[in-house]
Amino acid sequence: MEQTFIMIKPDGVQRGLVGEIIGRFEKKGFTLKGLKLITVDRPFAEKHYADLSAKPFFTGLVDYIISGPVVAMVWEGKNVVTTGRKIIGATNPADSAPGTIRGDYAIDIGRNVIHGSDAVESARKEIALWFQEGIAGWQSCLH
Ligand code: CMP
Repeated sequence: MEQTFIMIKPDGVQRGLVGEIIGRFEKKGFTLKGLKLITVDRPFAEKHYADLSAKPFFTGLVDYIISGPVVAMVWEGKNVVTTGRKIIGATNPADSAPGTIRGDYAIDIGRNVIHGSDAVESARKEIALWFQEGIAGWQSCLH
């Protein structure tokens, strides 16, 4: 069954949107397979966003991701990667439709509440990175 990696970013956690976001994925019919609240360090965040290392906003993006705890999750279900991206909405909240998470809760591309894998292959890599054995003292959090 297809899986995707979803991360509620520091602004989403600080604003108390965790329950709302989890509810949207649950009510759609997806299954929560892994979840942890974690504050990551700079090398870890740089690894997660390695594909964006040449972008001018890379340093600011990493600074922000390490600024507080995030909620890292694995969700499972039919077409969860593509459908999850639809639930999340466009990367730039200026373009994300009302009814999507970013459309309802964000106004700034740099503080856009949530991340979701953009393809099945990136989901596989991101799940392997965030839910590897032993990270931050955790054993496997996947069920
Ligand atoms: P995310 O889905 O986590 O993937 C990469 C992130 O980079 C993206 O969400 C945005 O938060 C951020 N990002 C993308 N483009 C810009 C930009 N032009 N300025 C600042 N941040 C950006």
